[in-house]
Amino acid sequence: LINGELKRWRGNTTKVASTISSTDTYIPTVLGSIPDMGETEAIEALDAALGTYNQGKGVWPTMKVKDRIECMESFVRKMETKREEIVKLLMWEIGKSLPDSEKEFDRTVEYIYDTIEDYKQLDRDSAKFHKSGDVYAHIRRGPLGIVLCLGPYNYPLNETFALLIPAIIMGNTTIFKPAKHGVLLITPLLEAFQTCFPKGVVNILFGRGRAVAAPIMKTGKVDVLALIGNSKSANALQEQHPKSNRLRLVLGLEAKNPAIILPDADLDLTINEVIAGTTSFNGQRCTALKVVYVHEEIKEEFLKRFSERVDQLKFGNPWDEGVKLTPLPEPGKPGYIQELIDDALSKGAVIQNKKGGEHFDNYIWPAVLYPVSKDMRVYEEEQFGPVIPVLSFKDIEEPLDDMAESNYGQQVSLFGKDVYTLSPLIDTLANLVCRVNLNSSCQRGPDVYPFTGRKDSAQATLSVHDALRSFSIRTFVAFKDN
Ligand code: G3H
Repeated sequence: LINGELKRWRGNTTKVASTISSTDTYIPTVLGSIPDMGETEAIEALDAALGTYNQGKGVWPTMKVKDRIECMESFVRKMETKREEIVKLLMWEIGKSLPDSEKEFDRTVEYIYDTIEDYKQLDRDSAKFHKSGDVYAHIRRGPLGIVLCLGPYNYPLNETFALLIPAIIMGNTTIFKPAKHGVLLITPLLEAFQTCFPKGVVNILFGRGRAVAAPIMKTGKVDVLALIGNSKSANALQEQHPKSNRLRLVLGLEAKNPAIILPDADLDLTINEVIAGTTSFNGQRCTALKVVYVHEEIKEEFLKRFSERVDQLKFGNPWDEGVKLTPLPEPGKPGYIQELIDDALSKGAVIQNKKGGEHFDNYIWPAVLYPVSKDMRVYEEEQFGPVIPVLSFKDIEEPLDDMAESNYGQQVSLFGKDVYTLSPLIDTLANLVCRVNLNSSCQRGPDVYPFTGRKDSAQATLSVHDALRSFSIRTFVAFKDN
């Protein structure tokens, strides 16, 4: 979708395959093809965004707030009619279970409605006058310009829209490239993007990130790079920009969120939460628990019960009832996870669960690895898949020191009961990460809460409220009482 036109594509295409399987039959399926766009289309899309923005003088950045809201409302209403189609594509393209696919769709719709409401409030606030000394000010928020937006494969709808929707509503014009897996599910929305917004406000490119995003960045005309994914891609794109000091970054990147289990933790509750945290969507969440610290005193009981529970999880197709583990969309992922397991085993770790590391179709069963040490790759790397490293500790300073040394700082889950132990710990943990989850696993939602991270985990903050601010700048009119 470029400058309001749906391109009739005559060039090369890439097949979008699914790795969906049934429990005993492997059925690799070609779901469709997407255009393999390159520099020519990328620059066309950029020109469309620049034209519609017209250095802040264009039709979209100057449009009345109520009209922009109407555009967004008509878009979300059309989107709601596509629920069934998009939920099916989520299951087929990225292997997300039915309840999780439905949840992703529904929370995205809710996010858009909440964004509209927050934007209305922002507008009401901007009508107020402020006074300091003899200077009155009428403060509002304005757009930043051209936003290049790239979303991740694990939340191709929700996380992409968590960037795109606030960027659009604040009056920016956008170029958006969907993730490699989860790209077809954008196609049911193309017509809505085309008809609900003026041409050039939303330009959508299909293709490889490097082929379409790099030429756009090289022009130096992008004002905001909005990306949820890995820091390698974010850094590579940022480096392409000739005036990167002018570039605003809205980034959600890697994390290695730990679970810390204290000796007095309620083990039933803890095991339930750690199972959800480590294995939901096969661990392919930036918020997944990616390393578990358990106190020496309860280590044996935890490892035994936790490992049994991991082996009881149900594997199957995303639409099967009660299924928790599903095929992985990335063909290379089981091989990568196996490498992490082999490295850990060669350095002294042992697989604690009977099924750990079993391969079938495009899947590898989550391996609970213990004892994990810091020289192992599975300790250092963000696995983003089904493998669970466990360490034990005697002194709480051990996991705290590890967190302080880590390159990441998104969230932590803390399990325990004694309020006098928990209270000071929460204060310390909050200085190391951005969200402390007490007796619960890590998660982004509800999406109204701030979502960010320290160090290499994020730049800027998302949430309905914060995202509107991340994609805008405060401007004001000042006048004197004369
Ligand atoms: O990949 C990271 C997502 O923001 C995780 O979101 O915690 O709602 O699964 P979630």
